[in-house]
Amino acid sequence: MQEKIELLKKLKKEKDAVILAHYYVNDEVQAAADYVGDSYYLSKIATQVPQQTILFCGVKFMGESAKILNPSKKVLMPDVLADCPMAHMAQKEKIEEMRQQYDDLAVVCYINSTAELKLCADVCVTSSNAMKIVSALPNKNIYFIPDENLGRYIASKLPEKNFIFNDGFCHVHTSITEENVRKAKEARPDALFLAHPECRMDVLKLADYIGSTSGIIDFASASGAKEFIIGTEMGVLYELEAKNPGKKFYSVGHRQYCPNMKRITLEKVIASLEKGETEVLLENSLIEEAKKPLEKMLELAK
Ligand code: 13P
Ligand code: SF4
Repeated sequence: MQEKIELLKKLKKEKDAVILAHYYVNDEVQAAADYVGDSYYLSKIATQVPQQTILFCGVKFMGESAKILNPSKKVLMPDVLADCPMAHMAQKEKIEEMRQQYDDLAVVCYINSTAELKLCADVCVTSSNAMKIVSALPNKNIYFIPDENLGRYIASKLPEKNFIFNDGFCHVHTSITEENVRKAKEARPDALFLAHPECRMDVLKLADYIGSTSGIIDFASASGAKEFIIGTEMGVLYELEAKNPGKKFYSVGHRQYCPNMKRITLEKVIASLEKGETEVLLENSLIEEAKKPLEKMLELAK
């Protein structure tokens, strides 16, 4: 491991590269990264790093967002097959239909979406800033794409808005069921249940805290409690355990792994830097249009 880290250090210097990683990637990749965070933090930090090359350890929409926000930089992804299925779960035609049907409509697009969907949106959001951004929008009608669960969670907190939902979902978070959470709570009566808003509403109703991956890590670290049941992808355990050696963390079930995030290995990260592959390449016109909702997100989230 140490040898690989040394090699990465050398390569990063040679290629003027920085490594960004999401909390769901393998532990060894998180350990080797320069910055690890949730989707909002990573999109923000991508606009601030001085290096000419950004190596993004995450799924495709993350690398695309970094490229859209930094078109003059080289953005590399260690595995092009690491894609988020939810990112594709909305249709341009349906968005157009909604725009015809509703006056005063804002199309709010979760960052877990393809660049093609982003360009149809008025603003992007992440799980950590969606509430702030949607409540700041002047529009009464909100078409929330692609994730129905995050949309319903935000809608439950903003009754003054009229939400129209789309039926996208994350298979990792929806594998967490109400029944399994109840069982986990019975087995660990002193544990707090911390959930990501991509979980279904019946699961969120059982949560002691709801938030993004960073939110969950911060909450557990600041809490006086000693045990936690984690309602998100188990990659967050790496940071949770590192920050909280005296605390215990449990999963709800055994399917809390995102197979796409786990495609990113340290070997692929090294190969990606060595070969300069695979570069995220997007049409200029797509970048120009998809940049607007992402930049609006960064502005409204401040
Ligand atoms: P956050 O890290 O922004 O909470 O997002 C979770 C997720 O599913 C990323 O794909
Ligand atoms: Fe997509 Fe779910 Fe994996 Fe996040 S955890 S990248 S939403 S499939």
